[in-house]
Amino acid sequence: MPDRPVLWLPRRVSDATVARARQDYDVVLNEADDVSPPERIIEMSAKVDAMMPCHSEIFSADVVAKLDPRLKILANHSVGTDHCDLEALRAKGIAVTNTPDVLSDATAEIAMLLMLGAARRAVEGDRCVRTGAWDFWSPSFMVGKQVSGAKIGIVGMGRVGQAFARKARGFDMEIHYFNRSRLSEADEHGAVYHDTLESLLPEADFLSLHCPATPETRDLLNAETLAKLPAGSIVVNTARGALVDEDALIAALKSGHVSAAGIDCFKVEPGGNPAFADLDNVFMLPHIGSATVRTRDAMGFRALDNLDAFFRGKTPKDLL
Ligand code: DGY
Repeated sequence: MPDRPVLWLPRRVSDATVARARQDYDVVLNEADDVSPPERIIEMSAKVDAMMPCHSEIFSADVVAKLDPRLKILANHSVGTDHCDLEALRAKGIAVTNTPDVLSDATAEIAMLLMLGAARRAVEGDRCVRTGAWDFWSPSFMVGKQVSGAKIGIVGMGRVGQAFARKARGFDMEIHYFNRSRLSEADEHGAVYHDTLESLLPEADFLSLHCPATPETRDLLNAETLAKLPAGSIVVNTARGALVDEDALIAALKSGHVSAAGIDCFKVEPGGNPAFADLDNVFMLPHIGSATVRTRDAMGFRALDNLDAFFRGKTPKDLL
């Protein structure tokens, strides 16, 4: 192992992360902070021992096949790893880590913001006041859906799902969840387990997605599954755009079967889906679930902890 491994930071991570990285690594920055196309990733793999990519850098099987053997580890600055073909990376002998735990609360906060904003018509209300169009009030004006005491369906009860459930309990929500495996009674805190998505959906006045994007979860919300939600339910997605058939969600939002949605993740990023922008009942954010100062530092430090362990010959905590 080199004394001072060369580490590429393809995106602008926090200043504290860069400062700490410089203590132990020869750091190569991407000053432009743009998304690296496959050719650049492949070219850089011959110049560095390690990379700290984000979900924006795509390591498909094609890219992985062309990576230089100098590259030893991808210490992802993300919990999601759907941008990495893990099987191909494993076969190539490249270690891969991620950053679980540290972003759960920040992401759950954004899910809460989206749920409240969608339910209480934040987009319409803000626009109405901001544009000076607010010239009317009555008890029937801008009536939304109450979150407190409603039933929330959580898809994926991992770390983020559980952090979201903790916050939802503060709103006295009745928590239902679908997960591959049931949590222990202590971790459930009274939440109701559903062993299929189909059993969860009819209960969900609100539905929040917190599972990873995999071939099995692709488009798990589609015309058929959306139809199983109660009329007027509200959908929140802070996980990945791949989980939702966006055309089907738009149709459900237009028909009113889904009364509103809060969306932080889209099939196409950056950019999102312009068809959502025509709908007042959609509250959107640009994939900023984990974007707080504290969490960005924690993600960078967790990625560095993984790198440090690897280059000291130990097993990184978050080795996948
Ligand atoms: C993650 O960590 O997966 C977030 O989506 C940010 O990349």
